[in-house]
Amino acid sequence: MQTKGLPQKILLKELETKLKEDFTFDSGRIIGSMCTCPHPLARKVYTRFLDKNLGDSGLFPAVVKLEIETIQMLGTHLSNPQASGHIVTGGTEANTLALWTAKKLSKRSNCEVVVPASAHCSFDKAADLLGLRIVKVGLNDKFQVDAAGIKRAINSNTIAIVGVAGTTELGMVDPISELSEIALEEDLYLHVDGAFGGFVLPFLKELKYDVPGFDFAVPGVSSITIDPHKMGLAPIPSGGILFRNEGLGKAVAWNIPYLSGGETHQTTLVGTRSGASVIAVWAVLKHLGREGYRRIVKRCMRLTWKLAEEIPKIRGLSIVAEPVMNIVGVKSEAFDIRQIAQELRLRKWSVSLFPHHIRIVLMPHVQERHVNMFLEDLSKVVDKLGG
Ligand SMILES: Cc1ncc(COP(=O)(O)O)c(C=O)c1O
Repeated sequence: MQTKGLPQKILLKELETKLKEDFTFDSGRIIGSMCTCPHPLARKVYTRFLDKNLGDSGLFPAVVKLEIETIQMLGTHLSNPQASGHIVTGGTEANTLALWTAKKLSKRSNCEVVVPASAHCSFDKAADLLGLRIVKVGLNDKFQVDAAGIKRAINSNTIAIVGVAGTTELGMVDPISELSEIALEEDLYLHVDGAFGGFVLPFLKELKYDVPGFDFAVPGVSSITIDPHKMGLAPIPSGGILFRNEGLGKAVAWNIPYLSGGETHQTTLVGTRSGASVIAVWAVLKHLGREGYRRIVKRCMRLTWKLAEEIPKIRGLSIVAEPVMNIVGVKSEAFDIRQIAQELRLRKWSVSLFPHHIRIVLMPHVQERHVNMFLEDLSKVVDKLGG
């Protein structure tokens, strides 16, 4: 750090120059991420209430009430107004809290958790942190976990099973009802990772898509991850963890005796945490309402179908599967998919790369003109690689 501070004007200019190389959402060039531009209102609210700290909840009782209201709204959205939980830093913290809760409730050592092969890597991280063994079960030809495989993988050490509603790689939905039957039969904790799908599937249902049960209406579901900073249009960081009831949510309560707001029980992984995130999520949910989100999801799906229709018209390319939500997997028998991703990057398109496909996510910041430009560049890339 230098001795004498710099004037704000110079600093801001320097920052603009230093940050120029970053991709931006408004350019439409980020076409493989599950994040997006926060809603302008969420941005405004977030910056206004930056000083609110929910880690010291005794100082901010009003924000605590807003968090309870937010969780009630999300719980109702996921068929359970009685749900408890928190707005956390993201899907990783939410999934970690779910596994931590399952471990605490089981009161056992040598614990195992059975997850789909498609589960997000945050489950591996969480398992490493919590000393759990992760058992991965393969997928069927629709890229959903094989429920019979989950059942077979259960043994006396199993404490939880996981299903995904909106997989990271393709946006597929696991057979949550079947997993629920298994969880109830075996008396196991069932966590559903709806980090992405939580803000998509209920609106697809309202748009008359055929959506399988994935939320608390399915009786065996113990907890759900739902991330407002993905399709919820909230600022980063805002993930969501919802438990079926308050008892489950309190399993990981930790007493913090010294805070200036008074002794408190924290039930999140982090201590000091953003009240601004909570307030911004509350505001954007209230402002957009079901109608607003439905409209956004409808537009994202229209672009998804357009892309899914146009990709196979490009030589050597096809889609991995018919999209279920606003995610399209692009594969190629003719070309190395990594090379395609690299060439796209040289043309300033940022896509997400998986071992056998490229993932395109049609987030709310992506406009039709971006899709058209992307398709044009993709054709050029293929022409170049094809010689
Ligand atoms: C299904 C799923 N779960 C969890 C996560 C982790 O979320 P975060 O990056 O917010 O921690 C992701 C990230 O993309 C995801 O796709």
